[in-house]
Amino acid sequence: MFITFEGGEGVGKSTQIALLATRLRAAGFEVTTLREPGSSTVSEAIRAILLDPAHAGLSARAELLLYEAARAQLTAECVRPALQAGGVVLCDRYCDSTTAYQGYGRGLALSEVQALNAVATGGLVPDVTIVLDLPVAEGLRRAQATAAPDRLEQEESAFHERVRAGFLALAAAEPQRIQVIDAGQTRGDVARAVMDVLTPLLDIPQKTTTGTA
Ligand code: TMP
Repeated sequence: MFITFEGGEGVGKSTQIALLATRLRAAGFEVTTLREPGSSTVSEAIRAILLDPAHAGLSARAELLLYEAARAQLTAECVRPALQAGGVVLCDRYCDSTTAYQGYGRGLALSEVQALNAVATGGLVPDVTIVLDLPVAEGLRRAQATAAPDRLEQEESAFHERVRAGFLALAAAEPQRIQVIDAGQTRGDVARAVMDVLTPLLDIPQKTTTGTA
């Protein structure tokens, strides 16, 4: 089972992935957690290029191809082997981020972005995608509370609004695969909403409660 988490800046994807991984491992699943761009040596090197604020002059097409190169390597080196071994793969971002950021955000043709997504992945599509949705200002505030803004976070808020609208448009177009969860709830409520989406798909044993009735 290939599960991806998506959304704008500061929506809490990595926190939710960590919580879910713990829960699934406790239930006996073999879980691999990955992030995009990154998680393989080559893809982490590409990530450093992409997020460095010194690279403000990177063209939209070069940016697109670097994200796709990082993804091609991650897919071949990490995602496919883990799935073939029968595990659950949790990935922090995947192709939908490219459609949202480089397509909707940068304004590159969606057909071109989606064609390159298919080239990079060899046609691999997540079984389930969770979009964590949050107003742009709140997400940027959360993201920048802990670290200096990277090259993407430094984009104007109109860019991030287009990205958010892009994720919601993707979810509306593919309601079977993509579920939107309100990331403005507490961390625990978001985690429960994630489990509500996944429990019927993964056959996760329910937590047992003991006590007197
Ligand atoms: P993050 O993993 O900390 O969210 O940083 C990744 C950044 O890269 C984030 O701003 C989203 C952006 N991004 C794209 O623009 N296109 C992509 O395809 C991916 C995977 C990420």
